[in-house]
Amino acid sequence: MARGVQDLVHLELGEPDFRMPEHVTEAAIQALRDGFTKYTPNAGLEELREAISEKLKRENQIDAGPNGEILVTAGSMEALSLSVLSTVNENDEVLIPDPGYVSYAAQVLLASGVPVPVPLREENDFRLKVGDLEKVVTKKTRLLIMNYPSNPTGAVALLEDLKEIADFVTGHDILILSDEPYERLVFPGSRHHSIASLPGMLERTITVFSFSKSYAMTGMRIGYAVSARELIRQMTKMQEHYVACVNTVAQKAAVAALRGPQTCVEDMLKEYTRRRDVVVEGLSKIKMMTCRKPAGAFYAFPNTSKSGQDSRTFVTNLLKEAKVATVPGVAFGKLGEGHIRLSFATSIENIREALRRMSEYCAKMSPR
Ligand SMILES: Cc1ncc(COP(=O)(O)O)c(C=O)c1O
Repeated sequence: MARGVQDLVHLELGEPDFRMPEHVTEAAIQALRDGFTKYTPNAGLEELREAISEKLKRENQIDAGPNGEILVTAGSMEALSLSVLSTVNENDEVLIPDPGYVSYAAQVLLASGVPVPVPLREENDFRLKVGDLEKVVTKKTRLLIMNYPSNPTGAVALLEDLKEIADFVTGHDILILSDEPYERLVFPGSRHHSIASLPGMLERTITVFSFSKSYAMTGMRIGYAVSARELIRQMTKMQEHYVACVNTVAQKAAVAALRGPQTCVEDMLKEYTRRRDVVVEGLSKIKMMTCRKPAGAFYAFPNTSKSGQDSRTFVTNLLKEAKVATVPGVAFGKLGEGHIRLSFATSIENIREALRRMSEYCAKMSPR
């Protein structure tokens, strides 16, 4: 609907508005000049797997060796896909977050599995609770997909939640697929923890990371999966038949991203933090909405149920009347209903203008 609408403020897009850092771009250009245009090993360039292994120890407290426990993939998307395909058999049930990223259910269906939503409740700050897992687990449950920092809610898991979830999955003998592409986008006061860093959890968890959001390089299509040797072996076998290996230039760029200065990541985070504060403050003044403060990623997920409109109607009207594009919460699952997703991967000026338009538009509505 947004396509072709003039003078629209875009808050619907889920990708960084920053340029890929200069030193990463230079490394990609140099790689082309140096002839890095051939296949690499299926699992990825050794120097990249080594850089990833060091990063995992340093930042995620995950102890995974470069040979056998790491697979470089075409974005986190391919890692998710290979993870699901290599663990889920026909009719296996997979617990997916609701609201959650749209591709999880699709990937499970592609593997002939059955997606089973687990509610993430607003009153729990959209954090996954074992009580809710207990209500949906069955003997057929094979995998639990988790995503923190979360798209679309901006929630970040607490360490104590992760410990409880780890005990739960161990008790039920379930594997975890932990999708962590926003690991570096965590605002001051919160901390990201990888569930695979907890004792005994590497063996039962496939953790998926990405360069897309941390280094604003979505189009380079590069990420990686980390897990126990046997799982990575199966995924690497599939890699051969899907893409053989990830684009070699992107792999060289990723080495530069990990080994180079990290000030670019810190600077982007500072700017996202500033934007998050402007969004939350602006939304707090709009009577039709209430919004929890996102702790990570670059999304706000305000509750719009006071308007009396379902989220699709609300978003459609906002687009037509206020010329602001957002995403209906129901697109992320049934429990997303009554919410909209705003992305603050856009300039402060755009955000201020969107807030002004939304506030003017909502002022004309009467609350339910
Ligand atoms: C939660 C989540 N997972 C995975 C992806 C895919 O990212 P990429 O394949 O670029 O790493 C996205 C992209 O928006 C996302 O939000």
